[in-house]
Amino acid sequence: MELTKEEQSMLDGEEGEGVQKAVEILLALGKIYDAGRFIPVSSAQVAGVSYKNLGDAGLEFLEDWANKGAKVRIPTTLNPAGIDIENWKKLGISDEFAQKQIRVIEAYKSMGIQPSCTCTPYLAGNLPKQGEHVAWSESSAVSYANSVIGARTNREGGPSALAAAIAGRTPEYGLHLDEDREPNLLVEVKCELNSISDFGALGYIIGKEAGNSIPYFKGIKQADSDSLKSLGAAMAASGAVALYHVEGITPEAKLGTTSTGELGTTPETLTIENLDDGYKSLNSDAQDIDLIAIGCPHASLNELKKISNLLDGKKIKSELWITTSRKIMLAAGNEVAKIESSGAKVVADTCMIVAPVEELGFKTMATNAGKAAFYAPSHCNLNVRFGTLEQCINAAITGKWS
Ligand code: F3S
Repeated sequence: MELTKEEQSMLDGEEGEGVQKAVEILLALGKIYDAGRFIPVSSAQVAGVSYKNLGDAGLEFLEDWANKGAKVRIPTTLNPAGIDIENWKKLGISDEFAQKQIRVIEAYKSMGIQPSCTCTPYLAGNLPKQGEHVAWSESSAVSYANSVIGARTNREGGPSALAAAIAGRTPEYGLHLDEDREPNLLVEVKCELNSISDFGALGYIIGKEAGNSIPYFKGIKQADSDSLKSLGAAMAASGAVALYHVEGITPEAKLGTTSTGELGTTPETLTIENLDDGYKSLNSDAQDIDLIAIGCPHASLNELKKISNLLDGKKIKSELWITTSRKIMLAAGNEVAKIESSGAKVVADTCMIVAPVEELGFKTMATNAGKAAFYAPSHCNLNVRFGTLEQCINAAITGKWS
């Protein structure tokens, strides 16, 4: 890789050991992917925040890097942590877990990172422009940034996103390049998509088939940003899709690069007649529901409004969490108060997958999110019911799935 003078001096340790380590990581990545140079990135979003996933080894790795004097040089936010940082006791999380989690956050803060812990940074003040290069690492945020915003990021790991934040650059390869953003899988959607869970079921089905392909969807008549975040999150969970295009909707949706308007190469085509496989695969047959979790990816203002309307005047029987960013939670003061008057909990900074849910005694979770439904059995040891928002709210009120 060709390095500028500044990059060479960073690599030589002239800006300290923390910066040197960052450039070493990025250089190794650049060599693996055959990048010719580094390019500047305007923001970073760092995964590897929940102590549940990091464990003591991850915590020590971060504290060690922070102790080397590393500081970020671009706006950088964090992925969800394992606790609501300001109000973790309300979820029943143990002191021991919370103290370790707080040490993780302190390590990041000492590197100059804002402790805004969310997988929807684009709804919480970190909204790049189309074409802007960023280094994000949470898979649903990566998918949204590339596909819905038209910004450019590879699917970074936690350490490489942190390295990019500290060095202010990333190797130029993959989704930073025009030629690697072309669709190579055509998806013909022949069924109606009427809910967030329909988009999640579709994402689950396509992700399983697509791996890390770049799908181009035809036949999706309309999709708001909440639907697209659900679609992308599910595809990034059951597969490794980091970019997709939706004809007539997402900013780079055009059929390949050829002047004929056809996909440039003969792509594989998937035809989706119905969503049965998604709903069947993501559902257990459990009837009693003790946790209902909405907000994967973190809920938007619009979603909080819908939930508060559905809960208006109702009391819930089972535990109901609505997970969101702190910024959205603060902006939705009235909705939050209405939701919580039903007995539900609006929770910031964390989510149903990265919080230590398995230690809280829950057996079956209901959700309208394809991604959460996909991960809950393996990451949280939970049975799952997956359905519409209305079904989930009804389960919270009755304690039963119907
Ligand atoms: Fe976000 Fe947690 Fe879902 S990090 S995308 S709410 S699994």
